[in-house]
Amino acid sequence: MSSPPSNPLPGGPVLIRPAAPGDGSAIDAMLDAAFGPARHARTASRLRVGAVPLVGPSLVAHGGGVLLGSVQLWPVALDSAAGRVSLTLLGPLAVAPQARAIGLGRRLLAAALAAADDLGLDTILLIGDLAYYGPFGFSADATGGWTLPGPIERERVLLRQRTPRPLPRIADVAAASTRHDATGRCNPPPDSSPRELSRPVRRDLPL
Ligand SMILES: CC(C)(COP(=O)(O)OP(=O)(O)OC[C@H]1O[C@@H](n2cnc3c(N)ncnc32)[C@H](O)[C@@H]1OP(=O)(O)O)[C@@H](O)C(=O)NCCC(=O)NCCS
Repeated sequence: MSSPPSNPLPGGPVLIRPAAPGDGSAIDAMLDAAFGPARHARTASRLRVGAVPLVGPSLVAHGGGVLLGSVQLWPVALDSAAGRVSLTLLGPLAVAPQARAIGLGRRLLAAALAAADDLGLDTILLIGDLAYYGPFGFSADATGGWTLPGPIERERVLLRQRTPRPLPRIADVAAASTRHDATGRCNPPPDSSPRELSRPVRRDLPL
């Protein structure tokens, strides 16, 4: 999937396409610039431990041979007394400074959500500003009783459900690679280091 070129910048048109393994270092450099080196300590980053970005809905925007934007989606888990269900975490979304405020962030977001819909990734979580993500169907209505593995501003824990399904009111959002033991402690598996994009999402896998 790729979008038609549009929104020309001085460097040329902007093309959005699925992220590929070779984009990893350019994405990392852009995210380091956008969020600073402390980004790996953020609560959202802790949810990505041991996961790889979903191939398909994770997208990059290029223009003039330069990476201008990226959005990534990840598998995460929601643990409650009723058991574990799968969610999809969206983020980070970032646009290079020279390409901001021309609608590229919203285009990336809309395209990623459309690709996620196409894959049946029905329930998408993110940590972000309601003013930006609300028009895309995100709200904090269902997440007030959820805890995350780090400090968070409650009103920024946003969820979008295409087809509403009952979700627990009290639950822990966790990296998909972690399990909570009987004491409630979180147990990451031995290999919990972040990995680069590597494997495609199978379209026949329900999440
Ligand atoms: C947030 C970001 C992705 C927006 O990308 P963008 O391409 O500039 O956004 P768009 O052009 O689609 O939209 C611009 C509009 O969104 C608004 N906006 C930007 N960031 C916003 C935020 N955090 N909250 C609310 N509104 C925001 C702008 O004020 C602008 O409003 P306008 O249309 O009324 O002028 C970009 O600014 C960025 O990379 N920031 C650094 C990383 C970051 O904070 N990412 C988001 C958290 S995951």
